[in-house]
Amino acid sequence: MGSVDAERGLIRQVVRDLPGYQPVDSLEAVARETGHTVHALIKLDANENLYGPSPRVLEALTRPDDYHLYPDASQQAARQALAGYTGADPDRIIVGNGSDELIDLLLLATVEPGDEVIVPVPTFGVYLDRPPLFGATVRVVPRRDDFDLDLDQIEAAIGERTKLVFVASPNNPTGNLVSAQQLVRLLRTGVLVVLDEAYFEFAGRTLLPLSREFENLVVLRTFSKWAGLAGLRIGYGIFPPALAEAIWRVKQPFNVNTLALRAVEAALADLSVQMQKVIRIRLERGRLFRGLRRLDLLQPYPSRGNFILCRVARGDAHDLHRRLLARGILVRKYDDPLLRQHLRITVGLPEHTDRVLQALREIADEVA
Ligand SMILES: Cc1ncc(COP(=O)(O)O)c(C=O)c1O
Repeated sequence: MGSVDAERGLIRQVVRDLPGYQPVDSLEAVARETGHTVHALIKLDANENLYGPSPRVLEALTRPDDYHLYPDASQQAARQALAGYTGADPDRIIVGNGSDELIDLLLLATVEPGDEVIVPVPTFGVYLDRPPLFGATVRVVPRRDDFDLDLDQIEAAIGERTKLVFVASPNNPTGNLVSAQQLVRLLRTGVLVVLDEAYFEFAGRTLLPLSREFENLVVLRTFSKWAGLAGLRIGYGIFPPALAEAIWRVKQPFNVNTLALRAVEAALADLSVQMQKVIRIRLERGRLFRGLRRLDLLQPYPSRGNFILCRVARGDAHDLHRRLLARGILVRKYDDPLLRQHLRITVGLPEHTDRVLQALREIADEVA
């Protein structure tokens, strides 16, 4: 730690305790390191949508506009469009700078120092990393061997200081869903449940209708996956009214920029075009899964997202990651002991599936 901090105790203890920030290598850096061109790299490590956004979105983004003006702080048109898409009351909808920002805002609005947040693991790392910054303690509850929620253990973990429970469906990285019965059981405990449906379009199933019945359900969604707009940072949440009001109070007025707000409207106006790509990804997911299952190198888990988690059955997962990288293929590896022997592969275009399977067949021969 630098001397300014040592002298004045400038940095909060909880920040000092965080693991050092490790930026993901840029594609340029990976290309340099592996000797491939950036365009030759196959990026299957971040669950992006490799089809990209719909034509109407691209057209809307190139329109010259009033960039000298602030964006609409009330997000009126985007929220109205989202109300049409979700069937939710626009007053309950808030757009965020990615759903990541909404996670922070939720914590900012609800957590008192000493509160607890329950996180069934393995899951999306942000649920683990962010609560301590707001004064909350994270209580991890392991999922069952098949990655299903262990509701008995979650219920046992709920205590006086429990503020909320994070549940992703489909879960990242395990790809499985939460059932309606499971969610209802959780909601009946009375605890605030944050249901993260970042990937629900790839599952074709949502539990959002339960938010009409339960005042303790928040549903988070994103445009990073189905809409192919990870770079624009667009997430949205459907909140119970009291929580929506609190989020409006704590969020920065211009948290979502003009282009992102415009992209929400354009993407929803071009829904059928974009959903064709989602359907293609779902079909490709089946092909990738079957191809992976045929290799004795990996054991893939069934997934309802745009990614497949695989247990590396032969050799070391980080070594396999390196060998794929040397061939210009980026997949996600993990340091978390729960997933250390796993890799997550995003479902890309058909040619990406071909290249990954070919590379894995070659590697299987190498490590025989
Ligand atoms: C479960 C889950 N929630 C949220 C996000 C982040 O979404 P956004 O890009 O909208 O911040 C991700 C991204 O990978 C995710 O896997």
